Amino acid sequence: MRVLGIESSCDETAVAIYEQGKGIIAESVASQIETHAKFGGVVPEVASREHLKVLPSLTQQVLSAADCDWSSIDGIAVTAGPGLMGALLVGVTYARSVGLVNNIQVLPVHHMEGHLFAPGLSDEGLPNFPFMSLLVSGGHTLLIRVDGLGQYKVVGQTIDDAAGECFDKAARVLGLPYPGGPEIAKLAITGDAMQFKLPRPMLNKPNHNFSFSGLKTAVMYAAKGCENFNAQAKADLAAATEDAIADVLVKKAMKACQDECVSSLVIAGGVAANKTLREKLGQASVKHDVQVVVPDLAYCTDNAAMIAYAGFLRFMKNDKITDDWDANPRWKLTDLT
Ligand code: KG4
Ligand code: ZN
Repeated sequence: MRVLGIESSCDETAVAIYEQGKGIIAESVASQIETHAKFGGVVPEVASREHLKVLPSLTQQVLSAADCDWSSIDGIAVTAGPGLMGALLVGVTYARSVGLVNNIQVLPVHHMEGHLFAPGLSDEGLPNFPFMSLLVSGGHTLLIRVDGLGQYKVVGQTIDDAAGECFDKAARVLGLPYPGGPEIAKLAITGDAMQFKLPRPMLNKPNHNFSFSGLKTAVMYAAKGCENFNAQAKADLAAATEDAIADVLVKKAMKACQDECVSSLVIAGGVAANKTLREKLGQASVKHDVQVVVPDLAYCTDNAAMIAYAGFLRFMKNDKITDDWDANPRWKLTDLT
């Protein structure tokens, strides 16, 4: 079976083809980061227009790279939510149109389910069920116990900002462009995290929830209170920010694994690309005897390979694929079965 995946939920337009037994045979991502960077964040209407501009040609390009035409595609998987409504509608409408014209079944994919199963595209593959997943992106910070495709239990979540949002907002304080996560990571390399003492919110709470808005405020006060906020001080604060976010994520994730008696942890979402987080998880993995599975770097941030793959898994599960669905910007992962 060959599945063509389409992703357009935020600021990346992406198309990929997954072939059963082979994996991803062609893919492309057109990033809008530069377009939005001058506004300091994603502008929804601009995002929709950009998706519309590039999606048809990107799809043709991926089909030719895979040496395919529509007749060799068995199913189309498209991100139907969560995300920006206008952006989602472009992908969904395009998918439905090409599906109708070429008589191909179109299936809605939950963006976070895509992230959740993205490590399945790496050589290591997904661990056996049940596993814990730490989903950390610009809009989500979730700890989810996964007992199977569509069997999700939210074990912990942020009560305010997402981890990626905290990176992005802290980056603004440091005068860095959007998206802030990779920029902070770059600057942190030359910084000394010990020069600033930042809080580790919610670490002593008995639940598995997160809170990052206080950390963002602490970064702001640290910058304001610094007498000589020069380039080195900025690098130090970037390192301290990265350290604080990674510490909280790692400790909470390990505790969730212990409490749920789960021996494997999968990380996913844009923040999963963070090197410090990956290193800290590697150390914690040995200490707590938890297997940590990380997706390939390219499959951490938004891409269509993960959508094509999750779509393939859904087509295989083959339960009740109907046309009775629509783009849903607030689609909940726990609504899936
Ligand atoms: O999953 P994603 O690409 O899009 C959403 O669905 O939100 O995640 C984007 C988020 C942004 O907040 C970005 O700053 C963060 O992931 N991010 C990173 C890194 N790369 C992307 N955060 C920390 N370190 C990185 N290397
Ligand atoms: Zn995402």
